[in-house]
Amino acid sequence: MFPDLTADDIFRIETKRLWLRWPRASDAPAITSFASLAQIAQMTASIPHPYPSGEAERFIMRARTGNASGTALVLAITQKGGARQTIGLLSATLATGSDIEFGYVLAQPVCGKGFASEAVKALADTVFSLTRVNRILANSRVDNIASRRVLEKTGFAFVDIGLDFLPARGGLHPCDRFQLDRETWAASRRAGGESRPLPPMAQQAHDANEAKVLVPAAPQIEE
Ligand SMILES: CC(C)(COP(=O)(O)OP(=O)(O)OC[C@H]1O[C@@H](n2cnc3c(N)ncnc32)[C@H](O)[C@@H]1OP(=O)(O)O)[C@@H](O)C(=O)NCCC(=O)NCCS
Repeated sequence: MFPDLTADDIFRIETKRLWLRWPRASDAPAITSFASLAQIAQMTASIPHPYPSGEAERFIMRARTGNASGTALVLAITQKGGARQTIGLLSATLATGSDIEFGYVLAQPVCGKGFASEAVKALADTVFSLTRVNRILANSRVDNIASRRVLEKTGFAFVDIGLDFLPARGGLHPCDRFQLDRETWAASRRAGGESRPLPPMAQQAHDANEAKVLVPAAPQIEE
């Protein structure tokens, strides 16, 4: 699913105010500090509450394993220039079919500054630029206005409301379902006058047989 480029922990995404990078063992205390709050966990599908001892360490290990195998891209959000501690998490994982699903969480003291939207937009750009995925899905609980707003601001379209299984919440819960497809993403980038989407890198072809080495044409020598 994800190319070799993202499967090494030197991979990172830069936005105006953030670095998105692989989670590392030293992030565990910061992750525990926000993930263990009931009001955060209750809005997510996968953060258990109460937050068990050692859960952040296990999460980091799973995230790094998934990233390394190219089946997921789970990143820690940090602020540029400030304290390097993690202020949130962002994940792109395989959904049903060949879609990707996003999840995100941010520490409460930094909520409301547009960080989640900045991070989600950058990850969507990365997914559509570096993979062949055609659709990104995201769900938010119907009472999660902030999350819904993040998806709207980053170009996701509302699809419908349905009962979704949230494993850590122990059952089915009504959720707003959103999606962003490649065509809409590309059109919005063109409309916004941003640079064209990056073509997939030749070295990152999913099948080694498809990888091409681009040799620049030899310069013409005038006699
Ligand atoms: C959802 C979450 C990631 C948002 O992070 P954030 O950095 O505050 O998001 P942003 O600042 O980019 O955008 C939030 C938007 O929601 C709006 N918002 C927040 N609470 C709101 C409310 N009660 N009513 C209306 N709008 C609200 C903000 O005003 C902002 O919109 P604006 O820029 O148009 O003003 C964060 O609140 C969080 O981690 N929540 C718990 C976990 C979670 O819900 N994860 C998503 C699971 S699907």
